[in-house]
Amino acid sequence: MSVLTSDQFGRIAETAHRLWGLSLPERKIQLVSSRMVRFLRGRPFESVDAYLHHLQHAATDAEKLEFFDVLSTNTTSFFREMNAFDYLERELWTPLSRGTLTTSGRRIRIWSAACSTGQEPYSIGMHMREHLSGDWDAKILASDLARSVLVKARQGRYDDDAMEMVPDALRERWFTREGRQWRIAPAISSLVSFRMANLVEPFRFRGPFDVIFCRNVMIYFDRATRADIVSRLGALLRPGGALILGSSESLSGIDSDLRPVQPSIYVR
Ligand SMILES: C[S@@+](CC[C@H](N)C(=O)[O-])C[C@H]1O[C@@H](n2cnc3c(N)ncnc32)[C@H](O)[C@@H]1O
Repeated sequence: MSVLTSDQFGRIAETAHRLWGLSLPERKIQLVSSRMVRFLRGRPFESVDAYLHHLQHAATDAEKLEFFDVLSTNTTSFFREMNAFDYLERELWTPLSRGTLTTSGRRIRIWSAACSTGQEPYSIGMHMREHLSGDWDAKILASDLARSVLVKARQGRYDDDAMEMVPDALRERWFTREGRQWRIAPAISSLVSFRMANLVEPFRFRGPFDVIFCRNVMIYFDRATRADIVSRLGALLRPGGALILGSSESLSGIDSDLRPVQPSIYVR
């Protein structure tokens, strides 16, 4: 038995779609219900309806974002889906290091567009430091909409569990032990700038980017929302730049100028 009625869930789903592009199918009612119970505990609302009325009619932007945190799924890991990193090594780091690929001003710009708690942009940074030689003007933009994940990402401190996918040699080189956690080295964190950004709103970033990671977030959007995001991301890629999706995601069914080069990787 869920605490949310079908009507209440419908109101949540409508709000989540309108504000954040999220598609919440009815089968998520149990999940949203249990998160809702936790969220409302200790908050001054006498009922779910009272909270939903507030959310829909009076909530500030900050309050709406608190609720986004309730709905969003932030699962991530270091070096998740290595095919993306293999692509970077083959198409970017190696040709740049050898001089068979050049960029104006030795500029490299990468965007991790749904960075969650930071493992993705920090993995890109470590990978770059490991595989790219020479002096480069390299920067990684990392964005997400959930405030809580951005706080954690900026701290750059991770428990042992989160470190499982980091090879020992990289852990030794790019992390220091701090109490019971591991802290990312300044040589990596200084490459990364974290920003809050909603993928369904116009981007404030100018680009052009060499690579945009937008992984494991498209699955939460419907086709029209995905098509809109992909066309705006594509416009921020330099010619030849790549959009990398999650390995279970693709642009199938979406009209796009981007060219598939391998599963879930598309080039402008
Ligand atoms: C499952 S995580 C994926 C993290 C990382 N890209 C990876 O593949 O490991 C999805 C992230 O997308 C973010 N997200 C969901 N909807 C968003 C939106 N409309 N704008 C920006 N970020 C969003 C969530 O906050 C969450 O951190």
